[in-house]
Amino acid sequence: MGGVGFAISGRRGDDPTQYPGKLTWYVVMTLMAAAMGGLIFGYDIGISGGVTSMAPFLEKFFPSVYHNQMDDTSTNQYCKFDSQILTLFTSSLYLAALVASFFASTMTKKFGRRKSMMFGGLIFLVGAIINAAAVHISMLIIGRVLLGIGVGFANQSVPLYLSEMSPYNYRGTFNVCFQLMITIGILVANLFNYFFAKIEGGWGWRLSLGLAGVPAIIIIISSFFLSDTPNSLVDRGREEEAKTLLKRIRGVENIDAEFNDILAARNDARLVQNTWQNIFRSRCYRPQLVMSILIPFFQQLTGINVIMFYAPVLFKTIGFRSDASLMSAVITGVINVLATCVSIGFADRWGRRTLFLEGGVQMLIFQIAVAALIGAKFGVTGDVTELPKWFAILVVICICFYVAGFAWSWGPLGWLYPSEIFSLEIRSAGQSVNVAVNMFFTFLVAQVFLGMLCTMKFGLFIFFAFFVVLMTLFCYFFMPETKNIPIEEMTRVWRDHWFWKRFMDEPVTRANEMTRIEQIC
Ligand code: BGC
Repeated sequence: MGGVGFAISGRRGDDPTQYPGKLTWYVVMTLMAAAMGGLIFGYDIGISGGVTSMAPFLEKFFPSVYHNQMDDTSTNQYCKFDSQILTLFTSSLYLAALVASFFASTMTKKFGRRKSMMFGGLIFLVGAIINAAAVHISMLIIGRVLLGIGVGFANQSVPLYLSEMSPYNYRGTFNVCFQLMITIGILVANLFNYFFAKIEGGWGWRLSLGLAGVPAIIIIISSFFLSDTPNSLVDRGREEEAKTLLKRIRGVENIDAEFNDILAARNDARLVQNTWQNIFRSRCYRPQLVMSILIPFFQQLTGINVIMFYAPVLFKTIGFRSDASLMSAVITGVINVLATCVSIGFADRWGRRTLFLEGGVQMLIFQIAVAALIGAKFGVTGDVTELPKWFAILVVICICFYVAGFAWSWGPLGWLYPSEIFSLEIRSAGQSVNVAVNMFFTFLVAQVFLGMLCTMKFGLFIFFAFFVVLMTLFCYFFMPETKNIPIEEMTRVWRDHWFWKRFMDEPVTRANEMTRIEQIC
């Protein structure tokens, strides 16, 4: 087993069962509290689609969209809801989150994961209050931007927190709880929209937007009581505290093996001075960099947010009335939560690859089925006035299978996998790249979906299916298994991989001194 300093053989492939420890209540409670960070993200994803379909909201802030919809007598279902200004309301949050994630990287590294979470919660709370009180569109936009900053900070810090804090053989289980909270946030938001849309006087949207403050308060309070991760404490020179904490969270006195690996990782990390330059320039970080870009890109190109943002609109398109559409969105929300639990149970048992591959195939089959069904009924003109009930139900069932496929694969693993593959020295920066790419493509899908539906028609589902094929092949050939590997020993998966190993021979160079530091790669 490796000791301190450069005697770090322990990071190079020893038996991972080396860390003694048990699952303590303390760590379970800590991890559950931290996972709450997913709630604010989920609530946002779920709330905006419903709010923007509430007539009083539209009439107040987007009168032109409201009147266009009222006056629209066209029967072309594909183009009924296409409005750029409205989608900008939904998607602006993700642009703010994208920018914020880079600031969060510095904060997470310098001040710890916990402070980033707390800050994210606070900013989010202010955004929710401004949104609930909005009397002018500028208040809506300022509120959305603040919510976005909150999400950027939370999504940057929470997955890292969970991956570092969890015992390595339960990392999958606990990290997936972040996704579980995202799905619960989405579901609760859908339910709220369903009920608040019925409030007389048409002010229900204020409740929908304002109640985002509740998950924010939960995060602020929980992060107040959380301790930081041992890895972050060591990184900031607080070794003794880290040691005491490690004993507490692992429930054993003998934590030397894990502690020494963290120390070794920190010592390596100190040799790398300019993280951003290194992550982009050094060949040995290439596999990690590629994953931090491709995984969130692929996650969004599954097309999942078409369902999450626009399910009510989509269901209206296929002929449901307003109420039934919102209800169907609730049904897909329930499936999303339940299927995520499968991943909680199996990510550490079956491994990440099995779930990625199965989920990919399942999504592909049901995307093609949806395309075929919609294509058969709507054709290319989209001119339909009456649709049989069985047809709409069949589409909803196919969408549920598709959502389930996502919910136990690319949903949770899209956050878990990147958070566990970065070496300590680039972990914070790598996670920011992951969040930024994720937010950018979330923004893009939200912004262009309704326009794409209008031009590509049912072919839109084939478009996303094409990417699902690509990502499944990518996973099969290029994604090494990471289950049961301690986070500070992860470089070994690249060294052992048929393709990525070629990038691991070249040493990292210090940006300014060009010093060879073979130990890192
Ligand atoms: C994705 C979101 C998506 C959600 C659906 C998350 O992992 O990042 O974009 O809306 O899953 O459950």
